[in-house]
Amino acid sequence: MSKILVTGGTGFIGSHTVVELYNAGYDVVIVDDFSNSNPKILKQIEAITGRVPEFVELDLCDELKVKAFVDANTDISGVIHFAAFKAVGESVQQPLKYYRNNFYSLINVINGFNSKVNLVFSSSCTVYGQPDVLPVTEAAPVKKAESPYGNTKQIAEEILQESCAVTPEMNVIALRYFNPVGAHDSALIGELPIGVPQNLIPFITQSAIGKRGPITVYGNDYDTPDGSAIRDYIHVVDLAKAHVAAIQRLESKKAESNYEVFNLGTGTGTTVLQVIEAFEKATGEKLSYTIGARREGDIEKVWGDVTKSANDLGWKAERDINVMMSSAWNWEKYLKDNPF
Ligand code: WQD
Repeated sequence: MSKILVTGGTGFIGSHTVVELYNAGYDVVIVDDFSNSNPKILKQIEAITGRVPEFVELDLCDELKVKAFVDANTDISGVIHFAAFKAVGESVQQPLKYYRNNFYSLINVINGFNSKVNLVFSSSCTVYGQPDVLPVTEAAPVKKAESPYGNTKQIAEEILQESCAVTPEMNVIALRYFNPVGAHDSALIGELPIGVPQNLIPFITQSAIGKRGPITVYGNDYDTPDGSAIRDYIHVVDLAKAHVAAIQRLESKKAESNYEVFNLGTGTGTTVLQVIEAFEKATGEKLSYTIGARREGDIEKVWGDVTKSANDLGWKAERDINVMMSSAWNWEKYLKDNPF
């Protein structure tokens, strides 16, 4: 049974991917430092899968410890690298924290395996900035990032592409996520924002459950059907399944290139106000919101062309916005009765 290293495996997307790897018959070892996640997630993964995840608490910025870990785990056949800081706003206030953590960890993982590794990298549609053409394809130009967070994703892709160009034994797939939302249908794992949620869906669910006040819609003067900004929201379980498909592609060695990029979205754009309406329809909960000013650094509209993922990964998102909303709400209600 192939064993996959999942760095950041107790995080939002990481934990859902561990579940799908088990479902697909893989063995898993999780490495995390709990800098942006909760140790209880390990128990939750066990409750869902019946498997006790192999786990090592490790700071991936520590080069010697990463090398020692890899040398002691010679049965790892692939890596899914989630471990990174990801708060756009925080990255603007603390750029060095983001550049140090996101690059040291990635480079230490590559070096730990002496660059001989099948690696799936967690990237983001943020590398496109505001695309000139929609839906945006993987061939679209990468634009100057609006934040240090986005810049770490762009530069990480360059590090991987340039490393692959000179190391045939290194095989990489970079997955550009659109907006990951929702939760596992068991409601035992989901998004665990620390502090006031910056992202729309966790703010909506916390507002609906009474933890937060009304939602502020950041701008309704965009060139969109209702004036609010458009994003391509994708269910986290669909996203997790795409990571399994990416590992399988790397193992199949079908790719012509040892560095590939794929969009992970639904191909459908949804405005903020449409999300609010979908949440109310899916849950029966009434939301209160106000219209505020645009948020610094936000783009107007983006949704992905997911043809390449369908053709080459054999993957397509299956869950619609209603399932995204109802699963996020079920998770918020679970958290109320079972605080972490
Ligand atoms: C979505 C839309 C906001 C909150 C970022 C990163 C991306 C990924 C997800 C890590 C926007 C609007 C939000 C609120 C609002 N990061 N909004 N009121 O900014 O598209 O993407 O987070 O995985 O890489 O770029 O996501 O959820 O913050 O915002 O109106 O209280 O909701 O303006 O239009 P974003 P988001």
